[in-house]
This record gives sequence, C-alpha cells and structure tokens, in this order.
Amino acid sequence: MIPAPKYPYPFIDHIIISEEEIRERVRTLGEQITEEYKDSEKILLMGLLRGSVMFITDLMRQIQRPLTIDFMSVSSYSGTSSSGFVRIDSDHKSNIHGWDVILIDDIVDTGYTIHTVRKLLADRKPNSLKTCALLDKVERHKIDIKIDYLGFSIPDYFVVGYGLDLDEKGRNLPYIASVDLKRYQELYGDLN
Ligand code: IMP
Ligand code: MG
Repeated sequence: MIPAPKYPYPFIDHIIISEEEIRERVRTLGEQITEEYKDSEKILLMGLLRGSVMFITDLMRQIQRPLTIDFMSVSSYSGTSSSGFVRIDSDHKSNIHGWDVILIDDIVDTGYTIHTVRKLLADRKPNSLKTCALLDKVERHKIDIKIDYLGFSIPDYFVVGYGLDLDEKGRNLPYIASVDLKRYQELYGDLN
C-alpha cells in the first residue's frame, strides 16, 4: 500500500485502489456488460446517488451498447455505520417496465441498501435486473447477497474517494483510500 498524499484531505490513510487499477477494472466490467447485453436495445443503468456518480459516468463510456441512465437517492448511513433502515429520498423518473436494468451502487457493506432497492425495482417489472457495485466489503454482509458485476472485494476498511464520502468529504479523490478515523475525529470531532 502506498501512503496517500495528505492533500486535500488530511484524514486520508492509504490509497488502497489506484486510479489505474480502477480504470482497468471499469474497462473490463464494461466489456463484460457489452458482451452479456449484446442483444439488448433497452439497457438502463440505475445509479444510487450520490456515491455511484463517478463510477457510473466512467462505466457507461465503456459499454458499447445503446443505453440510458437514471438515478435514485437513498440513505441508510450516518457517519460510518449503516442504520439498516433504507429510506428512498428521491425516486427514479423513467418507467423501467420492460427495460434491462442494472442497479449500480458505489459500495456494499451490510447489503441492506442494494437488497432493498433491488426488491423495489423488481416489483416494477423490468425485463431483467442485475446488480453492480464498485466495491464490496463481503465480510460485513448481514444478508446473503451476491453482486452480479463487482469491481473489487475489499476488507473491512472505511473508504472514501471515486465518489465515496465520509460525511460528504472525499468524493472527488480519483482513487479509493482508507480513512484514518482517529485523525478524522481529531479534525472534525466525533462521528454521529
Ligand atoms: P449497506 O446498506 O450497509 O450495504 O451500505 C451501503 C451504503 O453505505 C453505500 O451506498 C454507501 O453509501 C455507504 N457506505 C458503506 N461503506 C462505506 C464506506 O466505506 N465508505 C463510504 N460509504 C460507505
Ligand atoms: Mg450510498
């Protein structure tokens, strides 16, 4: 692991996935989706705001099929822990009936978010429904789920960057970095 530069977020600990590694993995995920959806004219990438934004904008450029995107905003997290209760803050706009939907989140932790949203979307009768996440902390799952298109499995670190945040900080980093929680608390006080 390479120590992360302390600028612009002094609470960053280590870069755990570099820009190059992300770019390469996103490219192969795009290739895989292009191949597996080669007969579909109705691909819809459904991103969960706001964490999946950087991932979805990179991934969509690597899928050589006609596609469209939509977003939902959901929350279950405060600070560094999942509440287990998933709230829909803003629903998607398009009718997904008959579409080949790929639900995209930044990271899977307990699994409640992606599981809950997946069930909700399934009730809306898409033609097909798969899940995609950049990161998965498999050892923290509280339910039995498997992500169809996964970027990387990671250990139980709290991470920021490439769209992911800690209380809205760190989203614009181009890599995935672990957080020094002790340092974070010295800087910003206790996490709620
Ligand atoms: P789950 O519902 O417990 O699976 O939590 C998934 C959601 O929690 C993701 O959409 C993220 O917004 C957030 N999350 C979980 N772990 C992290 C992390 O390490 N960094 C940033 N956000 C995280
Ligand atoms: Mg999220």
